[in-house]
Amino acid sequence: MRPSHTTLVTGGAGFIGSHTCVELLNHGCELVVVDDYSNSARQVLERVRAITGRTIVADYEVDIRDRHALSAVFERHGIDAVIHFAARKAVGASMRMPVEYYDTNVGGTTALLSVMREQGVKDLVFSSSCSIYGEAGQGGGPLDEHTPVRPTNPYAASKAICERILADVCRLCPEFRVLSLRYFNPVGAHPSGLLGEVPSGVPDNLMPYVSQVAVGRRTHVNVFGDDYPTADGTAVRDYLHVMDVAEAHRIALEHLADTEGFRAYNIGTGKGSSVLQVIKAFGEACERQLPYRIVARRPGDVAELVADVTAVQREWGWRPTQDLPAMCRDAWKFQQLNPFGYRTREPKEMEFQ
Ligand code: NAD
Ligand code: WQD
Repeated sequence: MRPSHTTLVTGGAGFIGSHTCVELLNHGCELVVVDDYSNSARQVLERVRAITGRTIVADYEVDIRDRHALSAVFERHGIDAVIHFAARKAVGASMRMPVEYYDTNVGGTTALLSVMREQGVKDLVFSSSCSIYGEAGQGGGPLDEHTPVRPTNPYAASKAICERILADVCRLCPEFRVLSLRYFNPVGAHPSGLLGEVPSGVPDNLMPYVSQVAVGRRTHVNVFGDDYPTADGTAVRDYLHVMDVAEAHRIALEHLADTEGFRAYNIGTGKGSSVLQVIKAFGEACERQLPYRIVARRPGDVAELVADVTAVQREWGWRPTQDLPAMCRDAWKFQQLNPFGYRTREPKEMEFQ
């Protein structure tokens, strides 16, 4: 990656996008950001600037499906490559609003591809998800990239469909180069406490929920099942620090030049932690025992999802450096400094439970 390389980051104000912007700016990359702020706040990019002391070339409030607006962004800036984060990401919401999920995630990706094609930009890093493995993950043991893709909900299916489209485009238009990163469970926050994950409403995901219990916004963690065939009976996932995920994107950009066509890589640590281990580790970070209750399993959950990261380690030499205590420490710092996310006071929909 040349220092003057200009990367378009879609969804750059979101959780993973904002941390990736920090990583890229710290490595001399020029950035243009588009985001419709449907799941993020305008203050985020100000904080990215504060952390890095660098300026984003330009940021635009644009819906990724708006080809006209997107073309104008490409025409105004010499874009060399794109990192495409912009998407809807909640599994539960995707079951209630499948059309909206396919429209944003698949329609957004095809709109972006058609503009890239029209503008002669061929290099893309795509945000995929371990959820595409779906039922294939039931078997236990680390999942490698050859695991069959069997999504079980519209969100996961939208990512699987995008991968299929991207693979076809690369096969039929050989000048395209696409790296699809299948993240497992990104958590944590920037160590400054200025950037982190801000769920809207009651958090679906474990770490943000635990974090809100720690800060006193929720009374206890509901542990979804303790009768799984795992060491302590609670489900195991491959949590990884969002700064490690951000670094993987920088390295992916560097590897686009030696990529042929479409490639997908798992982005995880290769190490699983149970729900109870996460609650305990967070308790150590915030120096208090966090209350929890065992409740029924969440429909659709599997016992264990852990990445086989042999490919990315062997081919890129990328290894995550941060452990579960570091993920909890940084998530806790962000939660303490920003108890209501990027807002200054409690929004109505986030009442105390
Ligand atoms: P996020 O919601 O924090 O970030 C997504 C960003 O995209 C937000 O800023 C949102 O406002 C923006 N956006 C949404 N729809 C848009 C549209 N139509 N036009 C323009 N911008 C739009 O999510 P995240 O956790 O940072 O996830 C980033 C990407 O990684 C997503 O594609 C997600 O599916 C994928 N992913 C996330 C996880 C995870 O656990 N966070 C795991 C695997 C994959
Ligand atoms: C982790 C574990 C729950 C909340 C999701 C998406 C996946 C990807 C990552 C986007 C599970 C348990 C949770 C709670 C609990 N995202 N849990 N109490 O389900 O592994 O993956 O995020 O691509 O697509 O599906 O993550 O954080 O929701 O759950 O006991 O209040 O914690 O049952 O075992 P998941 P999660």
